[in-house]
Amino acid sequence: MADPPSAERDYVLGTHDAEIERLGLQHEAWRSTAIESWNRAGIARGWHVLDLGAGPGHASLDLARAVGPEGSVTAVERSGRFAQAGRDAALVYGCGNIHYRELDLMLDPLPEGSFDAAWCRWVCSFLPDPAPLIEGLSRRLRAGGVAVFHEYADYASWRYSPRLPLLEEYVAHVMRTWRDGGGEPDIAMSLPPLLRTAGFSVRSATPHIFCVGPGDDRWRWISTFVESNCERLLELETCDTGWVESVRAELRHAEADPDALLLTPMVLEVIAELR
Ligand SMILES: C[S@@+](CC[C@H](N)C(=O)[O-])C[C@H]1O[C@@H](n2cnc3c(N)ncnc32)[C@H](O)[C@@H]1O
Repeated sequence: MADPPSAERDYVLGTHDAEIERLGLQHEAWRSTAIESWNRAGIARGWHVLDLGAGPGHASLDLARAVGPEGSVTAVERSGRFAQAGRDAALVYGCGNIHYRELDLMLDPLPEGSFDAAWCRWVCSFLPDPAPLIEGLSRRLRAGGVAVFHEYADYASWRYSPRLPLLEEYVAHVMRTWRDGGGEPDIAMSLPPLLRTAGFSVRSATPHIFCVGPGDDRWRWISTFVESNCERLLELETCDTGWVESVRAELRHAEADPDALLLTPMVLEVIAELR
C-alpha cells in the first residue's frame, strides 16, 4: 500500500490554491524586475541555479528558460502542495530542466552540487534566522557563483495618498503576524553582513519601490494580496470580519479614485558573489 501523503507544511500566508494563484499574479507584476536582476547578476545559458523557497515555481519557469535545456533549476521548497503545483507547471510548459526538492531550509542541508547561482525571493522574511541558510549556500555555490535576493527592507513604506488609515493598520497587522510566526518582514538589510561573514562579496544592494495608480499591475498585486490575505487572517483568527470588511471597503473606495497613489513595500535586491 502507498504511504499516506505527509502533512502539508504551510506557513503564515498559507499554501492553498488561492495563494498559488496570487503568487502567480505577484510574479507577473515583478517578472521584468526579476529578469533584470538575473541579467545584472550574469545568470546565463547553461547555468545551474538554486531557487530557494521556490513556492509553486513561477520564477523557476522563467529561470529555466533563461538557463536553457543545457542548464538547470533546482527548486527547493518545504510545502508539498507548492512543490506539486511546480512540478505540474514544469510539465505543462515543457521545462524538463526544473527539479523540485522538498526540504526545510532551516532543518535540512541544501541539495548536493556546485551551483552557479541562487535566487531567493520573499523567503527570508519567513525564516526565524537566515544565517544558516546563507552559511549552507556558501558550501553549495562554486567560487565566483552569485546569490540574488529580493527581500523586503521597509514593508511599512506601503501606504497611500490620500492616506488610508485602516490600510495602515492592516499593514502593521500583517507585519505582526509574520513576526508572531517567527519571521521578520524587514529582513533585507540584515543580509549583506551575513553574506560577508559567510565569504561573499556584496556586489550591489538596490532598492525597488514604486509609486503607482489604480490601473497599474503593482496596484493589482497589492490589492490581490489584501483580498486573499484578509481571508487567511480570518482563518488564523487574528482579526474579525467587521474590521476586514472595513479594510476592503476603504481599499475599494481608493481604487475608484483615478488620482489615488500607492507607494509599494520596499524590496531590496542584493547581489553577492562567493569569493
Ligand atoms: C511568499 S512565498 C515566495 C515564493 C517564491 N519565492 C516567489 O517569489 O514566488 C514564500 C515561500 O517560502 C517557503 N518557505 C517558507 N519557509 C520555508 C522553509 N523553512 N523552508 C523552505 N521553504 C520555506 C514557503 O513555503 C513559500 O513557498
